[in-house]
Amino acid sequence: AMNYSDTLTSQLAVVTGASSGIGAEFARQLAARGVNLILVARSTEKLEELAATLRARHGVTVTSLTLDLARPDSSETLARTLDEQGAVVDILINNAGFASHGDLAEADPGHMASQVQLNVGTLVGNTTRLLPGMIERGRGTVINVASTAGFQAVPHMAVYSATKAFVLSFTRSLWGETRGTGVTVLGICPGATDTPFFDVAG
Ligand SMILES: NC(=O)c1ccc[n+]([C@@H]2O[C@H](COP(=O)([O-])OP(=O)(O)OC[C@H]3O[C@@H](n4cnc5c(N)ncnc54)[C@H](OP(=O)(O)O)[C@@H]3O)[C@@H](O)[C@H]2O)c1
Repeated sequence: AMNYSDTLTSQLAVVTGASSGIGAEFARQLAARGVNLILVARSTEKLEELAATLRARHGVTVTSLTLDLARPDSSETLARTLDEQGAVVDILINNAGFASHGDLAEADPGHMASQVQLNVGTLVGNTTRLLPGMIERGRGTVINVASTAGFQAVPHMAVYSATKAFVLSFTRSLWGETRGTGVTVLGICPGATDTPFFDVAG
C-alpha cells in the first residue's frame, strides 16, 4: 500500500489566499507532506513569514507571489509568472475569497464586483489555465474552496452565497469532465471556521 504522504513528496502546489486562515493551513499541511509551494496573496510580509517557517520546518521549496487576485487580469499574470519560473503545477488550491455582510441595496458596486472576480472569475481563470497541463501529464489535483453557503441562498450575503454556489456547480461539472484523466477535482465546503474571514465580512 502506498503512503499518501509519499505520493505527494516533491510535488508543487499553488495555494491562493495562503497568507491567512484556511489557505495558510493548506500550506502548512502540504509542506508537512513534502510538497513544494508557491504562496499567493496580497500580504507580502505574511507570505514571506510563512514561507520562511515552512522552509525551515520541512525543508521544502517555498516561494511567495504578491498578487491582487481580484484584478481581472490576475490569473493571466499568475500563469505567466509560473511559466517564467518553469513551474510545473501538480496541485492548485483555489482558496482566496472573501464575503461581505449586508443588504445589496446598501452595498458598494465595486466591492461586489471584486468579490465576484476573486471568488469566481479568478478561480475559473486559474483552473482553465492550469488544468490542460495536468491532463496532459495524466496527474494533478484541483481543490476549490466553496462553502456551506453555496448550498442555499443567504440573504444579507447574496453575492457571497451565489459565488460559492457557482464554485460548487463548476467543481462538480469539472469532476465529471476529468474522470479517467488522472486529475482529481475536489470542492470543499467548510462551515463556519474561526479565521479572520468574519472581520473581513463585517
Ligand atoms: N472562515 C469560514 O467560516 C469559511 C467558511 C466557508 C468557506 N470559507 C472560504 O475559505 C476561503 C478562505 O477563507 P478564510 O476563512 O481562510 O479567510 P481569511 O483568513 O480572511 O483568508 C482569506 C485569504 O484570501 C486572501 N485574499 C483576499 N482577497 C484577496 C485578493 N484580492 N487577492 C489575493 N488574495 C486575497 C487573503 O490574503 P490577503 O488579504 O493577504 O490578500 C487571505 O490569505 C475563502 O474562499 C472563504 O470564502 C471560509
